[in-house]
Amino acid sequence: MSKRSAPTSDRGFDKDAKARTPQSTFCFRCIGCSSVTPSAAQDFRCSQCGNLLEIAHPAWKSGGLDASSLKSLWRERRSSNAALDLSGVWRFRELLPAPASGKPVVTLREGNTPLYELPLSSRITGVARLYAKHQGMNPTGSFKDTGMTVAATFARQSGCRWVACASTGNTSASMAAYAARGGMRSLVLVPEGKISWSKLSQALDYGALTCQLRTDFDGCLQLLQELVKRAPVYQLNSINPFRLEGQKTLALELLEQLDWQPPDHIIVPGGNLGNSSAIGKALLEMHELGLIPRLPKLSIIQAEGANALVRTLRETRGKRLVTVQAETRATAIRIGNPASWEKAVKVLQATGGACEQVSEIEIAQAKAEIGAEGIGCEPASAVTLAGLKKLLQQGFVKKQESVVLVLTGNLLKDPDFTMEFHRGELFSATERESARLNPYRHPPVVLDATLDAVIQTLEQAEKSEKSDTRSNA
Ligand code: F0G
Repeated sequence: MSKRSAPTSDRGFDKDAKARTPQSTFCFRCIGCSSVTPSAAQDFRCSQCGNLLEIAHPAWKSGGLDASSLKSLWRERRSSNAALDLSGVWRFRELLPAPASGKPVVTLREGNTPLYELPLSSRITGVARLYAKHQGMNPTGSFKDTGMTVAATFARQSGCRWVACASTGNTSASMAAYAARGGMRSLVLVPEGKISWSKLSQALDYGALTCQLRTDFDGCLQLLQELVKRAPVYQLNSINPFRLEGQKTLALELLEQLDWQPPDHIIVPGGNLGNSSAIGKALLEMHELGLIPRLPKLSIIQAEGANALVRTLRETRGKRLVTVQAETRATAIRIGNPASWEKAVKVLQATGGACEQVSEIEIAQAKAEIGAEGIGCEPASAVTLAGLKKLLQQGFVKKQESVVLVLTGNLLKDPDFTMEFHRGELFSATERESARLNPYRHPPVVLDATLDAVIQTLEQAEKSEKSDTRSNA
């Protein structure tokens, strides 16, 4: 196979005059023994103790990063048409690892996602200041793109031909897209029959070599860890700390959208626990650099059937990972052996956040409620609203506090779930509790193609809506 030529647009830092402001020289630091190295092996683990590495920015300690200058520089870039500034990730490049001079950045103009108010969910929960940061509005439809632009850039810089990941679907879709943009080949390992067709079809279209393995996500990830030691592939799972650096920008962009006034709570779904770790790292760095006056509480919500972190905290106080055999219809977070659990425990402790679990029915209801806002999201994202309701019941979140839910994936990522939900086929007839979801269902109606039939249906809908309103009054 011949090496594909890489695109030359979207040039890197040295072509962009503004990017010459402090560039972050970085190193790798072990989250276990704190040892520091200038480079990392392909497994991104510490050569001393085997724990995960994170990226550290020692140059920040010597000053040079002034909070108010950074804020104006980042705002100014929003009116620039330079490729790096158009990316909602690289716009914050002072807080990211810098690619080598002259090396191109692989970008699809990721980030720049909306922060929505949620009036209906506000009414349901009683939280007046409730927002959704919708990462499903990224180029491939999930939050993964913000990390992938950074990790793919460094993969390409390292000269590798193949990048690889294990995935529940979104990472593979994103990796395949960024590999294609960067002129690299991609190898995808996904659990057979356990990811949505929509995500799988993205990987195929972006040209990945896609292997559906007869195992679950945890089995795919384990195999990948062996593979990177034997084959010349560059791993792009969230074990790769460059991914987490890019995903930090969710928090930077969010705080900028809130005029740097931190919300009281940020609530995020937890699967392999890379995203919560990245958001937590960003909050701690922003606090350290004086960009925000106080830390929001970062809380993580899991599905009951994939609750490894919940159990780890309850049963071992976060000291030892409790793995589970994961099962949930929110397939994106169907993970029982999360790789970044220690990083997640640290950020929960540092920000004072909570960790909760929600049932399948609670997830489906919350997803329908977010859909009714005219926004929509995939099931894994809806755990945030379901989790918020629990945290309110427990008194951990107060109604007068401000809350941001991180919606991680687009509604279109899992059309099977949505169709089955509206047709009443998602839960078995024996699950009587699911009857309470009936008011949220809007199944399609099949009619003869006549005006009368449509008008009659319209009148019926109007009548039942009026009686619903009366019975709710
Ligand atoms: N939400 C969505 C839509 C996801 O796709 C994922 C993870 C998560 C939440 C959880 O994020 O793993 O950082 O805690 N998806 C990965 C994948 C595992 O392969 O696409 P996490």
